[in-house]
Amino acid sequence: MTATTTHPKPAPTPSKLDPKRALMRVDNLAVSFDNGSGPRIQAVDGVRMSVYPRQTLAVVGESGCGKSVTAMSSMQLVPRPPGRFDRGRIMWGGQGVDIDLLTLTEQQMRQIRGNDIAMIFQEPMTSLNPVYTIGDQIIEAILLHQNVNVNEAVEIAVEAMNDVGIPEPRERIKAYPHQFSGGMRQRVMIAMALACQPKLLLADEPTTALDVTIQAQILELLRDLQTQRDMAMMLITHDLGVVAENADVVCVMYAGRVVEYANVFELFSNPMHPYTRGLFASIPKMHQRLDRLVTITEVTENPKEFEKLPGAQEGVRPWWPWHDPPKDLAPSDEPAGDYYLQEVKPNHWVGVWRTEAVEGHKSRAPDLDYRIVDDPSRQKPQTDA
Ligand SMILES: Nc1ncnc2c1ncn2[C@@H]1O[C@H](COP(=O)(O)OP(=O)(O)OP(=O)(O)O)[C@@H](O)[C@H]1O
Ligand SMILES: [Mg+2]
Repeated sequence: MTATTTHPKPAPTPSKLDPKRALMRVDNLAVSFDNGSGPRIQAVDGVRMSVYPRQTLAVVGESGCGKSVTAMSSMQLVPRPPGRFDRGRIMWGGQGVDIDLLTLTEQQMRQIRGNDIAMIFQEPMTSLNPVYTIGDQIIEAILLHQNVNVNEAVEIAVEAMNDVGIPEPRERIKAYPHQFSGGMRQRVMIAMALACQPKLLLADEPTTALDVTIQAQILELLRDLQTQRDMAMMLITHDLGVVAENADVVCVMYAGRVVEYANVFELFSNPMHPYTRGLFASIPKMHQRLDRLVTITEVTENPKEFEKLPGAQEGVRPWWPWHDPPKDLAPSDEPAGDYYLQEVKPNHWVGVWRTEAVEGHKSRAPDLDYRIVDDPSRQKPQTDA
């Protein structure tokens, strides 16, 4: 980044958050939407995940699997109606005590939005208002969340624009969204989200609409800002390359459920659910020249892939919404029905059928305080140079 500093920046304040305490915990969340005369659309159905301070949790999965709805639920930004929270809690630990974000009033939620949790939306152009200048919009976000006057808000906005690498922020603050390129608009969104120094950033496909070079710049920028500010991030993406480069922990979703959850190294080296294995099989590898790549459906449509879960005990089989439940399914009155998210080996969870082998298994919810920066086995050796 070639940003020039416009005025002295306060040193980053060390986080007072306990690194061993989850910042946010999504616990059995289910969200559905009214579908006119048809049955309700169950967008999210028993999702569990957790984010720790300074951690990047990547949420991956195909279009429509419920990634955005999960993130927007934690900001209470799901439109209700047609949306409805059917069950579950989203516990926020950023204030020292756990509070359930789903129970907060709009007024209480406004305190959380921006101050504690900020979101970068999937579509920057639809999130920016075309009739207001960039500056007006960033300043409004600051005034809404911080106890400062307009002049102070202007200074914070200029600094935030500078931080995200927008050149000549004092001039550019007067421009309208259409006068910015896609990459610059995305930086404006990031500046707005970060102006209030949130503890958690929900970044919903922050780079999908951008070309590869700009994408890399934005992700690098997010990584830098995250380190400087001790911020946690939920990074929603389709792109496994982005996951490999940025995530500490990965949550793979399918059809409103979590199908796999592990730290990034474990997930990439030992994917267990056929859907995750299909995802990996469908990406090209440098050292392998193939005439054609395997598609995800070639894996998920192969019944053999679902007969057992390699590495798990007998009778534990990967859950899949389009399959008939297996014959050894155990009776269950759980709201999530036949699906169960089981810790099949330490710190590695897979969505499985609630079969007889699984009955009685009490899995802890996905919960990994793993961060690459804190992992001694992943540190580069120190050199004297
Ligand atoms: N406002 C809404 N009204 C009705 N249905 C909705 C609404 N928002 C989301 N849905 C439905 O909820 C499901 C999950 O949507 P969501 O936006 O979370 O998917 P996603 O995983 O973010 O997909 P993408 O990768 O395309 O962004 C989809 O079936 C979608 O059609
Ligand atoms: Mg989405």
